[in-house]
Amino acid sequence: MYDVVVIGGGPAGYVAAIKASQLGLNTACVEFASDEKGNQKYGGTCLNVGCIPSKSLLDSSHKYYEAQKDFASHGIDLKDLSVNIPSMMKRKDDVVNKLTTGITGLFKANGVEAISGRGRVINENLVEVSNNGDKTSLETKFIILATGSNPIEIPIAKWSENIVDSTGALNFESVPERLGIIGAGVIGLELGSVWSRLGAEVTVIEAMDDFLPIVDKQISKECHREFKKQGLDIHLGSKLTSAKDNGKDVEISYESKGEEHKASFDKLIVAVGRKPNTADISDESFPIELDELGRVQVDDFCKTNYENIYAVGDIVRGPMLAHKGSEEGVMVAERIAGKKARMNYELVPNVIYTHPEVAWVGKTQQELEDHGVEFKIGSFPFAASGRALAAADSVGSVKVLADKKDDTILGVHVFGPSAADIVQQAVIAMEFGSSAEDIGLTVFSHPTVSEAFHEAALAANNSAIHIGNKRK
Ligand code: NAI
Repeated sequence: MYDVVVIGGGPAGYVAAIKASQLGLNTACVEFASDEKGNQKYGGTCLNVGCIPSKSLLDSSHKYYEAQKDFASHGIDLKDLSVNIPSMMKRKDDVVNKLTTGITGLFKANGVEAISGRGRVINENLVEVSNNGDKTSLETKFIILATGSNPIEIPIAKWSENIVDSTGALNFESVPERLGIIGAGVIGLELGSVWSRLGAEVTVIEAMDDFLPIVDKQISKECHREFKKQGLDIHLGSKLTSAKDNGKDVEISYESKGEEHKASFDKLIVAVGRKPNTADISDESFPIELDELGRVQVDDFCKTNYENIYAVGDIVRGPMLAHKGSEEGVMVAERIAGKKARMNYELVPNVIYTHPEVAWVGKTQQELEDHGVEFKIGSFPFAASGRALAAADSVGSVKVLADKKDDTILGVHVFGPSAADIVQQAVIAMEFGSSAEDIGLTVFSHPTVSEAFHEAALAANNSAIHIGNKRK
């Protein structure tokens, strides 16, 4: 009998398994993904077809873009610059392999039993594992479901040779001349950036009228302006009505302001969101409660409708983010081990890995306005940051929102160089209940782009040094 069986080995599941084992629980992790040689592939979407391969291509394509567009301004002249897509893809695959085999090593080092196959809950204490027609049963005291999510396929644009999801878009063999993307969300913008930097003409079709509505309005306006400048042709308020892959290219129609438009692309990426993998997670005789979006219904501690069954990561409420899933995995393992762990869902950072990056934590200005919270704003542009200027990377700004009454930081929004790392400093500060004044009183290294956060926090109290703050 196991103490814990985890179903799914992505960032939520494998982290939960390692933590549970570290806490002295006899733990197994069931995963069906395997490579051509039959070796198990842990890491889920994040490591295999998500965060890691996309960041690998984002970094490679950014280097190429910089070499092409920015090196000359630094006095570096390059001749005969070219891009080798097969080499770029091989490097990406090597990074992925290194990390996925790393998890197998971590399981061994931490005493987690790796079990190959598809797991399914039969009852509170039984998980059935199917592997190439063989079925085995695992008896266990606790079960953690972590089966992740998959891209949504829309009926009018079914996957084909040239209509692909995010996984397909990470494996193009050459740069498409004309690339269409449905959805200006996180995936659409990240993959659009990769292929645009490598030379594709990128058109993005987005149904909503607003650009990046989850992002603070002022920041999303800055992003929209910059991405258009970088060459992304973004059509807002445009709904896909048909897509036909005729083998050579993809013909699409979309409706915008009541008018029908047509376009044709070599490849079309459909990135309209992801759906939780909850079909067939349990036997029909043992229903696990789902919500209206097909996600497993859980409480604040990720417990399902059964006392000893938990669910974490993309299959439960909240943002579909690897780090959110991993922290849920840690919380659940600790609670199973009898600890009182809880997770602070208010402070989950978000990042979009375009260049510059977009990152934020806490409330947006519009959320504060909607909730009638009185707040102060401190903004600081990277155009006034010495380090950003030295690096020729000075687009964007930092925006700090603080409570008008007690100065507590309520939200930090960054569009600019190293935005993800700057926001992480804000997450730490906010975890400790920091005020804008606390950040203002903290010594920041000079010259760093982080100083823009320092200045934005000072600006929230009208005391920034490197922008005008005339006494009233
Ligand atoms: P998303 O929800 O971020 O964006 C999808 C977009 O498609 C929306 O703006 C939506 O309005 C639009 N759309 C939907 N149907 C449409 C249609 N028929 N025509 C035109 N537009 C349409 O979803 P996305 O980008 O697929 O990402 C999925 C999930 O993966 C997200 O929850 C995201 O958080 C996560 N993710 C996170 C990353 C990160 O943290 N950097 C990277 C990649 C994914």
